[in-house]
Amino acid sequence: MEGIISQETIDAVNSQSDIVAVVGDYVQLENRGNQWWGCCPFHHEKTPSFCVTPEKKMYYCFGCHAGGNAITFVKEMEKVNFPEAVKILAKKFNIEIKYSSTFAPSAQKTDNSKELYIDLYSRVADMFHYGLLKTDAGKFALEYITKRGITMETIEKFKLGYSPADRSWLKRFLKSKNFSDEFLAKSGLFSKKYPDVAFFSDRLMFPIFDRRGQTLAFGGRFLRGDPEKSPKYLNSGDLIQYQKGETLYAFNFAKNSIRENKKVIFCEGYMDCIAYHQCGITYAVAPLGTALTDDQIKIVRGFADTILLSFDSDGAGQKATWRAILMCRRQGLTVKIIRLHNAKDPAEIMLNFGADTLTNEVNSAILDSDYLLSFLSQKYQKDTPEGKAKFALEFFPYIDALQTDIQKESSLELLGRTLNISLEAVKRDFNNREDVKKRTLSVNTEGQKPVSNGVVVNSEFRALLAVLSDTNQFELMQSRLTEDDFENPSARTLFSVLKECYESGDLSFVSVLNHCNHDGIKQKITESVSRGEFSQCTAQSVAESVERLQINSLKRKRKEILQQMNSLQGQLSIPANQELMTRLFEQKKLIDEKINNKGLEYGSGTGS
Ligand code: CTP
Ligand code: MN
Repeated sequence: MEGIISQETIDAVNSQSDIVAVVGDYVQLENRGNQWWGCCPFHHEKTPSFCVTPEKKMYYCFGCHAGGNAITFVKEMEKVNFPEAVKILAKKFNIEIKYSSTFAPSAQKTDNSKELYIDLYSRVADMFHYGLLKTDAGKFALEYITKRGITMETIEKFKLGYSPADRSWLKRFLKSKNFSDEFLAKSGLFSKKYPDVAFFSDRLMFPIFDRRGQTLAFGGRFLRGDPEKSPKYLNSGDLIQYQKGETLYAFNFAKNSIRENKKVIFCEGYMDCIAYHQCGITYAVAPLGTALTDDQIKIVRGFADTILLSFDSDGAGQKATWRAILMCRRQGLTVKIIRLHNAKDPAEIMLNFGADTLTNEVNSAILDSDYLLSFLSQKYQKDTPEGKAKFALEFFPYIDALQTDIQKESSLELLGRTLNISLEAVKRDFNNREDVKKRTLSVNTEGQKPVSNGVVVNSEFRALLAVLSDTNQFELMQSRLTEDDFENPSARTLFSVLKECYESGDLSFVSVLNHCNHDGIKQKITESVSRGEFSQCTAQSVAESVERLQINSLKRKRKEILQQMNSLQGQLSIPANQELMTRLFEQKKLIDEKINNKGLEYGSGTGS
């Protein structure tokens, strides 16, 4: 077993790590004299105030005051603890890790489970890959993927695989390699209910890599059987080593190309992403079976200034495109839309028309504003006053998302020209948009989504539904969480209702309904209870969701603080602001520590 990393190793890492190379993996740096400058990865900015001084082996941001050495940088960027950061750097710079035996081994066990799981996943990926290429059972999958025009080279590069149909094989195999039952139970490779039964079976397997190419998780595509009975894709859920909202598929292969081209393609999924790469368009990545997240955009923001969106052209794809445009613009990025002709997705273009056609489509991507204006032109009648008004109202959020006055003004101008309305009128309506919206919508609500009963059932809400019927489980939850830890207003309400009931000593179903005066929430409760959902809620699953809620809540607070710090920037000549900045910085540090500690608790497993 490993011990504590020796001081000697830490010193070696500190002295031998090339800080410019370390930071350069994440941030585009430019050399000026004996310093290197770039845009700070810890806050949002457009002009570089982030400075790396190789001579002192440190970095510092004049905007947000983030600063430190190579180890702190890796800790921050990779969200890992100190020993892990040291290990990453040691690996990068070929420094041998020595462990000291002079300390009691209590602190050492903190958090190497993440690495152990990464190790496990790499092995399993190798086995699946072997299964696809070298076994009879995998032939079917190999034929399937070959027919879709994927080459051997690509199969190797993305380490595609095949998971055996026999669901008990994986457990037997891993047990024979001396992995323990407890360890495997938490791996996400097996059914939660039946720990000997493999989660993926008879599927085409896509390993999901981290930015350094280590295997973290899997996606598995359905191949045969009854498509009604199993989903087209099964994806790993969040795991100790894997947070899907913070990971981009193929980023490890795309990283350098994104940096060189200063652009990145966000596409829909595994197959499309692979198609782009096989066609030589190597700056493509994909969010993983979820809607694009701000964290995912942040991953590429240090490298690229332009985002190319390549989502489906159906209704869902259009919505995703709208949303992504706004999110990327809010982060100050330029956005273009790739539109495909005569095919539904990039994989199909590759198969039917070839790489050149796909490259042409990418090169003909249009600006998001042009895309939106042409989309709205089809949706509304531009030649009637009402049509114009609705058109403009729907376009305004885009202008809101833009980050500079010049961009805002030119987009308003463009809108005016499209609608044949003077810039002044467009501007007036834009400035009074809240008012205009109320007036327009009170006359005619057509096209507005009805707000069903206003209840949002997300993971927070489900966590509460799960403890609803069990006083013991709620006890734990209420001792660790407050209303403020919930983001979803429906969840907040439900939490305070449960708390009231708990305090009154009666957490029965009837009492909850009596205490709750929100019809929508009552309805959801009854629905869920009558369906028998969550009847098997366990202490462990509750502990896990509490942990997750706490971490999310801390992350939200951290984000708020960062936003406040951002808005203070440029006004730091005022002493009061400097004080405030320092205070915010302290708060952020505290939260960071808490998040790190949580990570540890979570990582090391709360088995007992
Ligand atoms: N997806 C998912 N679960 C599903 C369907 C889709 O997680 N049931 C995710 C996958 O990441 C998938 C992406 O959404 O790659 C896009 O879905 P889709 O276009 O249906 O799949 P493709 O990747 O195009 O796969 P294929 O071309 O093999 O149909
Ligand atoms: Mn497809």
